Amino acid sequence: MTTPEPFKIKMVEHLNILSRAERKRILEERGYNVFKLKADEVYIDLLTDSGTSAMSDEQWGAMLTAQQSYAGGDSYYLLEKAVSDIFGFTKFITVHQGRAAENVLFSVMLSDGDIVPNNMHFDTTKANVKHKGGTPLDLVIDDAYDPGTHVDFKGNMDLEKLQRLLDEEGRDRIPLIMLTVTNNTAGGQPVSMENIKAVSSMASEHGIPFFLDACRFAENAYFIKTREKGYSDKDIREIIREMLSYADGFTFSAKKDGLTNSGGMIGVKDDELFNRCIDLAIIIEGFPTYGGLACRDLAAIAKGLYESTKLEYLEYRAGQVKYLADLLKEGGVPIVEPPGGHAVFVDARRFLPDIPPVQFPAQALTAQLYIESGIRGVELGTCAFGETDGEGNIIPAPFDNMRLAIPRRVYTLNHLKYVAEQLISLYDKRDEIRGMERTYSPELLGHFMSEFRPI
Ligand code: F0G
Repeated sequence: MTTPEPFKIKMVEHLNILSRAERKRILEERGYNVFKLKADEVYIDLLTDSGTSAMSDEQWGAMLTAQQSYAGGDSYYLLEKAVSDIFGFTKFITVHQGRAAENVLFSVMLSDGDIVPNNMHFDTTKANVKHKGGTPLDLVIDDAYDPGTHVDFKGNMDLEKLQRLLDEEGRDRIPLIMLTVTNNTAGGQPVSMENIKAVSSMASEHGIPFFLDACRFAENAYFIKTREKGYSDKDIREIIREMLSYADGFTFSAKKDGLTNSGGMIGVKDDELFNRCIDLAIIIEGFPTYGGLACRDLAAIAKGLYESTKLEYLEYRAGQVKYLADLLKEGGVPIVEPPGGHAVFVDARRFLPDIPPVQFPAQALTAQLYIESGIRGVELGTCAFGETDGEGNIIPAPFDNMRLAIPRRVYTLNHLKYVAEQLISLYDKRDEIRGMERTYSPELLGHFMSEFRPI
């Protein structure tokens, strides 16, 4: 059955398409890093699903009428109600985006030498842990590293790995345990309610606070509803409140399932931790009733939280991702299975089997896709998640994927059909794609600023 868009289009943004020769020249000038392209140089932009959502008329309307005030504007109270209705939390702090939430929380909770276990850290989370002197540990189930296997909840934490770590380290060096829902790094894969519950109870047995990285909480809840036993008849919001009920707190980037273009949040249950976070947030983000944002942005988040948790929206959203994934599979393109919540991840190691990970196959694929078609994906592989040893040798990431993230409510199925056609055509001439040599890389968060040249 088709699940059409639960909205119609009221305003459009024109797209610009350059010639192949222009794209080739521009990308070479920008060091083959698609982050350095101007949006105008991109035809279909699947760089990220973050901050790229189309907001609704109700969101724009609420922004226009929101009071602008340093303290106590009405949008704060709208958001307070939404956070309580959707997440079941009464204490929260707004910040300008998700990584600011990580910065505040980790600055307050982490000390040098600490370890933070997570199913998988996203790049900014990983960098924020390291920035505060900690070690981020990814303890996801092994299936997450196998792109071909079909597992319903491929984002689950491996409970045995977590138990081993807890037995070895105890609570002294582990200030918090995190779970990222959905697991963006390895395919936008969901975490089951059973797993959330189990991690929560292991954390509480050891007296360690348990936090969700809740950027894509609504998409995760949709997968629980559609895949986990006992949840098919439950309302999405009931599932979300249950997910959050097991957590002592959460970090959130409203740029994803908040359906807004900016904003983030920390939710905390503990009074003392909340006060410590507020004290720091006031110094680096702002007063609690606007924290890091204009008051109108809070109104957009409040409306967005209600909109992203409607079943018909989530059905449409998951339907778009599946549509693109199915077309690609029919065309023989190797993808991470099953497709996740916000993106299709193309497995560059199987797409380009002759290019070794140290030659950045997913970066090569991302660059060539842009040159051929004007489509911008992003490398999530050895550039984003690899390391270098003391002698500067590249230690590859466990996978090399090109992520095609689908912005929320932005592109039509025809756009996605174009993406599939272009990528399938590129697959047919994959032998022409060459590996990449990295000519520049910053110390942290490699993929934003790195530069390359074809080998
Ligand atoms: N956590 C996860 C799981 C994320 O995917 C992101 C951002 C963040 C935290 C940080 O949020 O961008 O608001 O500071 N992911 C974006 C992406 C950038 O493209 O996947 P932020």
